[in-house]
Amino acid sequence: MRGCTFLLLLLLSIAGCMNGLKVAPKVQELGVTTDIALLEEGRKIYVHNCTKCHNALRITRYTEQQWGEILPEMILESNLSVQQSQNVTAYIQAVLHASSGPR
Ligand code: HEC
Repeated sequence: MRGCTFLLLLLLSIAGCMNGLKVAPKVQELGVTTDIALLEEGRKIYVHNCTKCHNALRITRYTEQQWGEILPEMILESNLSVQQSQNVTAYIQAVLHASSGPR
């Protein structure tokens, strides 16, 4: 019985950890219902284009305001098209909004 409790706690902590450490959550986990294709595209850019010089950084590590300063600079670094910039920006915003409490 004690062994079971331990195992359960272990599983719970692993699950909790994975949840907290999501670098770039999938679009279907964000609870949004509009612009899905656009956001999917944005996530792809985040995972592929934004990892050329560094690893993908956990989006929720930065506030919306910090992203406002970082992102334009990083978009220039990545040579994205206007459309790609809009998509990746929309994706990051969707992630930030999804993680900032009740919807
Ligand atoms: C050409 C290389 C390059 C590409 C491509 C690039 N970055 Fe960066 N990134 C850097 C460098 C260098 C730093 C650290 C220096 C700095 O803050 O300017 C950095 C830092 C960051 C930081 C941390 C900033 C801070 O102040 O802690 C974030 C977040 C970030 N990048 C996000 C992105 C995103 C999102 C993209 C895609 C749109 C991207 N990066 C693409 C080179 C790049």
